[in-house]
Amino acid sequence: MSIDLALIGGTGLYRFPGLENIVEQVVETPWGKPSDVIVSGQLGAKRVAFLARHGRKHDILPHKVNYRANLQALQQIGARRIIGVNAVGGIREDMGPRVLAIPDQIVDYTYGRITSYCDVDGAEVRHVDFSDPYTQTLRQQLIDAAARADVAVVDGGCYGATQGPRLETRAEIARMRRDGCDLVGMTGMPEAVLSRELGVDYACLALVANWAAGCGDEAEISLEEIFANLEKATAQVPPIIAAMLGES
Ligand code: HPA
Repeated sequence: MSIDLALIGGTGLYRFPGLENIVEQVVETPWGKPSDVIVSGQLGAKRVAFLARHGRKHDILPHKVNYRANLQALQQIGARRIIGVNAVGGIREDMGPRVLAIPDQIVDYTYGRITSYCDVDGAEVRHVDFSDPYTQTLRQQLIDAAARADVAVVDGGCYGATQGPRLETRAEIARMRRDGCDLVGMTGMPEAVLSRELGVDYACLALVANWAAGCGDEAEISLEEIFANLEKATAQVPPIIAAMLGES
């Protein structure tokens, strides 16, 4: 069974609506189990696979996600291109709540995560090129599809990956802004680099849930607001994907 597109859903996206003839697969990999079953189904004539990054019950913390298993499981069932959907905080002025963005750069502040398939005794050491961490052709397909679906997206931006699960301090976000980060999230890495090591095309569709610490007017970031904003932003994802697959 060939897969035209795979999606990894983040916070707020636990299933992909509108899929037909659904098959759920429990996939084993040399790295253990992925976060949940992989749900694949038809979107018109195209086959889409979906995996919930934190599990469909959202019970896996960002630093506990088995990123290696998730990506390899999708590759094993035939995915050759993957869109990672990530909830993020907005830092840049045009990246406020409910904005959708397709970043083109990453700064990685995470620690203690396994970031390579070579991280095994005896494995050959490989140094993959990561100058451009996302697959440009896939980014462009997303951008073009969003235009066809009449959904506004920001083209570009630097995704700062933090450890979580806590949100950041104002000082941390101020430092990230000085570093050139436009968005902040907890799961963009090592997902992007592991995809690169596997040779699978990968792009990020970032959904802004809140202003990052100190970037908005609020004294505190409210979880209710995060979820309300995410619900609105998430509703824009299926039309983009349908347009991308020529099924809208
Ligand atoms: N920081 C990190 N990750 C996030 C945020 C944030 O403010 N909002 C949603 N995911």
